[in-house]
Amino acid sequence: MELKKREGFSSGVAVFFATLGSAVGLGNVWKFPYMVGTNGGGAFLFVYLMCVIFVGLPVMISEIFIGRRTRKNVMGAVKKLKPNQPFWRIIAVFGMITVYLIMFFYSCVGGWVYSYIFKSLKGDFTGVTSNVSQNIFSSTVLGPIPPILWQLVVLIVVGTILIMGVQKGIEKVTKTLMPLLFILIIICDIRAVTLPGTKEGLKFLFHIDFATMTKQGVLIALGLAFFKLSLGMGTMVTYGSYFTDNNNIVGTPVKVAISDTIVSLLVGIAIFPAVFSFNMKPSSGPGLLFMTIPLVFSKLPFGNILLVLFFILCSIAATTAMISMVEVLIAYFSEERGISRKKAVIINIVIIALIGITATLSVDKTSLLGGISIFGKTLFDAFDFASSNIFMPIGGLLIAILVGWFIKKEDIEEELTNYGAIKTTWHISLYRFILKFVSPVLLVIVFLNSIGIIK
Ligand code: TRP
Repeated sequence: MELKKREGFSSGVAVFFATLGSAVGLGNVWKFPYMVGTNGGGAFLFVYLMCVIFVGLPVMISEIFIGRRTRKNVMGAVKKLKPNQPFWRIIAVFGMITVYLIMFFYSCVGGWVYSYIFKSLKGDFTGVTSNVSQNIFSSTVLGPIPPILWQLVVLIVVGTILIMGVQKGIEKVTKTLMPLLFILIIICDIRAVTLPGTKEGLKFLFHIDFATMTKQGVLIALGLAFFKLSLGMGTMVTYGSYFTDNNNIVGTPVKVAISDTIVSLLVGIAIFPAVFSFNMKPSSGPGLLFMTIPLVFSKLPFGNILLVLFFILCSIAATTAMISMVEVLIAYFSEERGISRKKAVIINIVIIALIGITATLSVDKTSLLGGISIFGKTLFDAFDFASSNIFMPIGGLLIAILVGWFIKKEDIEEELTNYGAIKTTWHISLYRFILKFVSPVLLVIVFLNSIGIIK
């Protein structure tokens, strides 16, 4: 079944789950905890929340506005919105570059998650200790062959789903599995907050001490907000183009941002108590999820089964997030370039696989390509850093400026009130004010500050 273009989502609930399906992914279970862990805990969390409210949400509303107004893929959308100003096409170009950069390392981490399903199925984690769990993680990522094979499996799954065009089916899956993931994380939380390190763990996550923050940390929090909410690269423009005339352009993003944040916080509440209980360091880096979660589950009745289930659900969340990313490329190549959908998928998946392998081979300094360094970062870290901290914030800034300053107030009001159907408008004025004056200023300050141009 081919997803008919511009068919539109059926209901408000469908739109909410579809958007949430893109937002919730490895960003929540893998990246968020390890970023909080390496950047100082509570203070970082606070800054992150500010970034979501004052930059992430306004940009998300703007992307969805652009999508529904034009009903096109990201390139088609900026062309239609500003036909005589080719400059704005840079939003689409940056967006697509970002998709590639993220996919290079995201597919690698996706491979780790897939492989953990099988490791837990085999019972590798029964009665596991913190040393064993750290060793299992290192050997998983250092491979070098198995992690590459897993990455390829992930990409083939993503490609196959995209070729079959069964996104509609995927949405149904998300709708049932997302709540299941949620329940599983809560079970994990209940166990975690009865571990001996709970007090320390929760203090690390929630105690705000700005002394632990660095300048770079503020930019990283901003980048994380973009990454988690799937912003700054056209995903939400594409989704917005499927919104129907009575879907709420402000309400849905607010609900999605709140739910996405709750999922991340619950994962944090599961992980940090475990970190302190099992004598690990919060700053353990990208392995944090993989090293702690098996330990928490090993202390639960039926822990092994639940662990398998947890990784299955994470794999699905990661897969749906990747589908939403690659769809941006496919929509562009098929709608703007006239390439068949199948061909577009194959070409893009091959490109992502070829370069993505270099991310997998550079996870650690001791890896095969770990010696290659770009501005002092391994390739894996460079793909991550460039996408989250350079391309997405710049894309977000351009979107904020475009919608905040170069779209008529009447047009925005028309679209955001669903052509007059929504009577309350105070939130639209608030949104426009933040978008015009707060988000761009914050974006510029954070950006210049982190590259050391202003202090
Ligand atoms: N938000 C997803 C996550 O947290 C990742 C993702 C999906 C994404 N689509 C995106 C990130 C578009 C940036 C842009 O895992």
